[in-house]
Amino acid sequence: MKVTVVGAGAVGATCADNIARKELCQELVLLDIKEGIAEGKAQDMMQTATLLGFDTKIARSTNDYAKTAGSDVVVITSGLPRKPGMTREELIGVNAGIVKGVCENILKHSPNAIIIVISNPMDTMTYLALQSTGLPKHRIIGMGGTLDSSRFKYQLSQHLGCSPSDLNAVVVGGHGDTTMIPLIRLATWNSTPVTNFLSAEQQEKIVKDTMVGGATLTALIGTSAWYAPGAAGAALVESILRDEKKLFTCCVALDGEYGQKDICLGVPVTIGKNGWEKIVDFKLNEAEQAAFNKSADAVRSMNDVLKTL
Ligand code: 2OP
Repeated sequence: MKVTVVGAGAVGATCADNIARKELCQELVLLDIKEGIAEGKAQDMMQTATLLGFDTKIARSTNDYAKTAGSDVVVITSGLPRKPGMTREELIGVNAGIVKGVCENILKHSPNAIIIVISNPMDTMTYLALQSTGLPKHRIIGMGGTLDSSRFKYQLSQHLGCSPSDLNAVVVGGHGDTTMIPLIRLATWNSTPVTNFLSAEQQEKIVKDTMVGGATLTALIGTSAWYAPGAAGAALVESILRDEKKLFTCCVALDGEYGQKDICLGVPVTIGKNGWEKIVDFKLNEAEQAAFNKSADAVRSMNDVLKTL
């Protein structure tokens, strides 16, 4: 198995680091357009191999896509990250050109690759990847909801005083501060609804804190977060390469599911060797469906910006 991570910034490097540590593939390639970055970070990671006990070889390349040839999975993290006060949506102009170019280069050398999109604004970049490549829809996966659901579980665990691993909780909709929908009604703590244990105020706070999870970290750090985004990308790679068929929320092409068409948006999907395999219907209630439709409207108007570029 071969995996390429495009973009050796903080998110890409963290994603590659997680893939290497877990020995998910025989060949891992880290590629960046900037001279020295992929080379340096890959060497740094390889120098942890004896300390951490992994044997993954990390090849690196400065923009030479020939080295990525034959990749089974490609994770795209390229593009500008957010600065404090910036929305993910503001990145659309610059990042659209970058993501389109990366997709073209990747497919020249890895025509069968499954593509995971992390670049922001993630919902629109996933849609762009689908439209510009014309690939079968199951091979294009946007990572956002996987990260947002993990942040949701973290927020819930803080209020419940429990292990996040004992929680089941998903965020659907867009990967924007106002478009994501943490489904607190359906969240459970080892099968019991979390709403049994949380006041209405606590529930409201958890949902709000989850929605601005990325922006909160950007304000604290001065740039976009990377540990959880990188780990979320690697978790998807793992489910594909091991054909785990785990259920994640991912941004995928909808064709009538959840009442939407011609859009990529976060819904629960199984992830396996074919990419995203099955959309699971969580049976939203009226208020949740209305929020989902509103989220779709916002993402659709961002997608419309692509036509003007
Ligand atoms: C985040 O939410 C990078 O969009 C990503 O942190």
